[in-house]
Amino acid sequence: MQTQPLDMQSFISNMPKAELHVHLEGTLEPELSFALAAKNNIPLEFDTPEQLIAAYDFHDLPSFLKIYYAGMNVLINQEDFYQLTFDYLTKAASENIVYVELFFDPQAHTSRGVSFETIITGIHKAQLDAEDALGIRSQLIMCFLRELSAESAMEHLKLAMPYLPWLVGVGLDSNEKDNPPAKFAEVFAKARALDLKLTMHCDVNQLDTLTNIKQCLDDIQVDRIDHGVNALQDPALLKKIQQQQMGLTVCPVSNRFVVQSLTSKEVRQMLEQNILVTINSDDPAYFRAYLNENFIELQREGQFSTQDIVTMVENAFKVAWLKDSEINQYLAQVSQYARHVLKPSPTAHA
Ligand code: ADE
Ligand code: ZN
Repeated sequence: MQTQPLDMQSFISNMPKAELHVHLEGTLEPELSFALAAKNNIPLEFDTPEQLIAAYDFHDLPSFLKIYYAGMNVLINQEDFYQLTFDYLTKAASENIVYVELFFDPQAHTSRGVSFETIITGIHKAQLDAEDALGIRSQLIMCFLRELSAESAMEHLKLAMPYLPWLVGVGLDSNEKDNPPAKFAEVFAKARALDLKLTMHCDVNQLDTLTNIKQCLDDIQVDRIDHGVNALQDPALLKKIQQQQMGLTVCPVSNRFVVQSLTSKEVRQMLEQNILVTINSDDPAYFRAYLNENFIELQREGQFSTQDIVTMVENAFKVAWLKDSEINQYLAQVSQYARHVLKPSPTAHA
């Protein structure tokens, strides 16, 4: 008996996967941007999608956020949010993603005069239709923009009250500098009391990141941390993350824009220390890499084994905000896939 030679790219691409860190507005492809701009009579600075992509020049979080917020001005009507969501879920299903937890940034739209109802209704309808048509399941996480006030975050939580069954949790994203988790303690406590799950971004190499990670763990008591790679620099933080079996949603291609590496060494250290590290795409239309590409590039840079890949995919299902019975069904799907693909094959001389 011998094992079949393995094409790592197909192994990754065909595996059933979960994505836990993807910003809906970060999935806005230039072609859809142009179509919506034409429909809604919104002038764009560029003549073609290619020119728009050529202007994607990110080297840190603020330079990315500037382009990200400018991009979403084309989203006006319920159908626009529907189309954005349905297109992303179609792409995700084509990558064999079977489950998604999807961030959205309502304040980036209500501040432009788009109603909360318009945003969430468009997204929710697309989630239902994508599940029916493509079999991909998704849940929604409402993010607060951390450079805006805690009062604005609280107002948006109140706006969300009629739609609570459509949300699985709340998150915190955008510009981290001088906007620590503690600023939002009250709104996150209220969200917890409403039975929502909690997560917060601690982007790679941000100022005060270790203080922010500590606040996430001790003060806010989050259920997950988005990014959180710098926790490796503090053994006490890492131990807490490990003991609490907390998931970290790492985004390799996104990290490359900030630290010029896919953080594969850090991912390996996390695996070695039994941290529940997961791999995600963050803002795939802007970073030009969806989930499979993130895994494939990470595997190449860090020479991860098939077992490492399986572990990272399993981690995502383990820390997903689902019932244990649902998690176990997904884990069974992954192990069945791995068993089937990695099974030894008899050779002619066996
Ligand atoms: N909003 C969208 N993408 C983000 C990221 N990578 N970090 C912080 N906020 C974001
Ligand atoms: Zn993010």
